[in-house]
Amino acid sequence: MTEEPSDFANDAPLLQAWARFQAESSTPFTIPGHHRRAGQLSDELGRLLQGDVPLFGGLADIKRADGALAAAERLGARLWGADWCRYSTGGSTHANQVVALAVGRPGDTVLVSRAAHRSTLSGLVLAGLRPVWLPAELDERFGIPTGVSVATVEQALTENPGAVALFCVEPGYLGTLSDLPAIIALAQQRDVPVVVDQAWGAHFGFHPAYPPHALALGADAMVLSAHKTLPAYSQASVIAASTRRLDVDRLDRAFEASATTSPAGVVHASTDAARALLASPLAHELLDRLAHVTGQARQRLQVEVPGLRTPTPEDFAPGRYDPAKLVLQLDGCGIDGNELERALIDAGMPVELADRDTVVPIVTMLDDDVTVSALVDRVVDAAAHLSRTPRPRTVFASWAQGIPEAALTPREAFFARHETVDAGRAIGRVSAELVAPYPPGVPVLVPGEVISEETLSLLRAAADGGTRIAYAADPSMATVQVVA
Ligand SMILES: Cc1ncc(COP(=O)(O)O)c(C=O)c1O
Repeated sequence: MTEEPSDFANDAPLLQAWARFQAESSTPFTIPGHHRRAGQLSDELGRLLQGDVPLFGGLADIKRADGALAAAERLGARLWGADWCRYSTGGSTHANQVVALAVGRPGDTVLVSRAAHRSTLSGLVLAGLRPVWLPAELDERFGIPTGVSVATVEQALTENPGAVALFCVEPGYLGTLSDLPAIIALAQQRDVPVVVDQAWGAHFGFHPAYPPHALALGADAMVLSAHKTLPAYSQASVIAASTRRLDVDRLDRAFEASATTSPAGVVHASTDAARALLASPLAHELLDRLAHVTGQARQRLQVEVPGLRTPTPEDFAPGRYDPAKLVLQLDGCGIDGNELERALIDAGMPVELADRDTVVPIVTMLDDDVTVSALVDRVVDAAAHLSRTPRPRTVFASWAQGIPEAALTPREAFFARHETVDAGRAIGRVSAELVAPYPPGVPVLVPGEVISEETLSLLRAAADGGTRIAYAADPSMATVQVVA
């Protein structure tokens, strides 16, 4: 390391403010109500709440806290080359809702990648936007989505000349990216702002082995989950935007309308620290190590677990795959991913995603050769003991069907009267709910879409394969909520 690992922390004013508050022994008469004395009630509760420092009255005096946060966000704007940058304690869920509330008016059309996370969906409901869905391309070699094609975007722009924004998700859950430079250029030729949900790519843009971040590629706004891949507190998220095509006042109003008025200073301080880390030379070293250890893990796994496949950045065009992504495809080696997940949990190594065919451990800048080698050792060891039945790969339910016909907008369906019916009676009815198998958390059914037999059987097959049918009121899919 060329500098002391902690040097970057000195350049994180909110982290320093958090440390000052922790060091002093004030007796606050402000919220939060634990008043730094919860240890009197229980050791565990005391430890739990020890680090909790509010923004207002914690990181700064109540009357100065807005200014302290704004100063920290200006550093974020500088780092990511944005005109407008806000830190959210509501995760990228809040951030995606903010951008949806900022781009148009109720009834406006937006072009949305079908890989959109449910938070974008809820943003469409809140803002009353009408989505035109853009299907993802499938990579036949790996059976994984590779983003939205340039031709799909071009056609959608031509067919929807009134569209007020284009929403992309880059990278997707499995590390692939669309050809963003071409897509952004196409949209902006027509003055359509491009919003990129880069929740999984907060580490992009600071090392040549990784794709540039979306703003660097010319996007109008990007959403980053600092907590997903950077050393930040859960829920820490960033929205960074250019105000060439987006209205700064609307962005501010959208943010304030949906944000908490009591943000956790500890979350903001961690975002600030993650920003300072990315700005420091240490980030380059850590990102170097991350790409290296992940690459080594891929090589070892492919050799030591015959039949196991892991897509590599070299399998894709430059800038189209996150080199930090480690996706284990198990169909060829015949291990059941749910069993492998169980073995890893038992070894104290829970992973982010597992279904029968796919396991995805999240490897970050905080991992090194020791942690990643231990993970690979464990996978190799488990593979030697687990039963194996090689099988054809099944594509995630989210990608296996065409996009269902929409009878209502998501907002109309959200507010419509609904009833719960047996699945058999739901065919031909309009879904009142969002159904998104997890992984990858991408909707198979959006409120307002017509339910088909194909969709229901895909969902049931996914559930049978160990996939969690997320967000459905009845995850077994025996019943479905439909518009009355
Ligand atoms: C693509 C994408 N966007 C947004 C989100 C929401 O992020 P958060 O959990 O920070 O609210 C997720 C969560 O997994 C996601 O995968």
